[in-house]
Amino acid sequence: MKKIAVLGYGVVGSGVVELFYRNQKKIEKNTGTELEIGYILDLREFPDDPYGDHVVHDIQVILDDPEVGYVAECMGGVNPAFDFVRRCLEAGKSVATSNKQLVAEKGDILLQVAKAHHVNFFFEASVGGAIPIIRPLHTCLAANDISAVAGILNGTTNFILEKMFCDKMRFDDALALAQKLGYAERDPSADIDGGDACRKICILSSLVFGKHVYPEQVYTKGIRNITLEDVQLAQDFGGAVKLIGAVKRLESGKILPTVMPMVVMNESLISHVNGVFNAVMVWGDGVDKTMFYGRGAGKLPTASAVLGDLIDEVKQTDTVESQSWEPAEEGADFVAPIDD
Ligand code: HSE
Repeated sequence: MKKIAVLGYGVVGSGVVELFYRNQKKIEKNTGTELEIGYILDLREFPDDPYGDHVVHDIQVILDDPEVGYVAECMGGVNPAFDFVRRCLEAGKSVATSNKQLVAEKGDILLQVAKAHHVNFFFEASVGGAIPIIRPLHTCLAANDISAVAGILNGTTNFILEKMFCDKMRFDDALALAQKLGYAERDPSADIDGGDACRKICILSSLVFGKHVYPEQVYTKGIRNITLEDVQLAQDFGGAVKLIGAVKRLESGKILPTVMPMVVMNESLISHVNGVFNAVMVWGDGVDKTMFYGRGAGKLPTASAVLGDLIDEVKQTDTVESQSWEPAEEGADFVAPIDD
């Protein structure tokens, strides 16, 4: 039996625990490994929570337990997440994180620490929530020379722009609605000034071009000053205003990472991505262009990506007998075709 430790019991951390226990049998069958949530690290107590008895307050408890093989970091922010993740990696535990700030600012260091200690540092959940984009870039599309990545990387601003576009709401009213629905924080600056999308484009840029790109190297402009008139003008020209995070390689070989509002013409699939959904397009010399779409935030969508990373790690390291396909039983496993 191997234990998973969850750092941070907020929205994402509690989603990881909920989704794990909902699908524990399936996950164990898939990985061929018995798994358990061993610890939940949080400063608070959760007396009424069904998993409240898993809560510990000291990272050392997790570091000292050799049965903890995997860690899900869902705390957010750089401090103390950086220190905790580094120590987990040094203790031989692989880590999956949903923390885009941590990856954007310290990803290069943490990847080196992981390599030095023969474990893995995963961050699928740090960009695009539920959307598989990190692993596809790392493996499925690895045969390509990737020239550009661009997309809608922030659901809150996409929701605001859609309300301005479809319902003719003014920016302030659309933002207030996003706050009321729990999409935007009380201080919405990370979303509306582009900081959140900037961190995500840093991560994608670093992954694709193999050199760490830091937030201050990204030209970042948010949507705070976008007016209803701007949105209307875009509509008149047959397009929609979207906050686009993009990185492309120029002819000089240098890369240009940006986050800014753009008019996306209606012919492009991405102009039809609405609400809190995200979409990422990748241009490669083999695939031409591909698009990845899904829920860019939220408790279970983000938890799905964190657990997916950990399942991948379990399969690589501890799997005894992995799931395989068995022959289906006619009549028992699927509905017979209907003759017409
Ligand atoms: N505030 C972010 C968004 C959450 O709206 O997309 C996920 O990073």
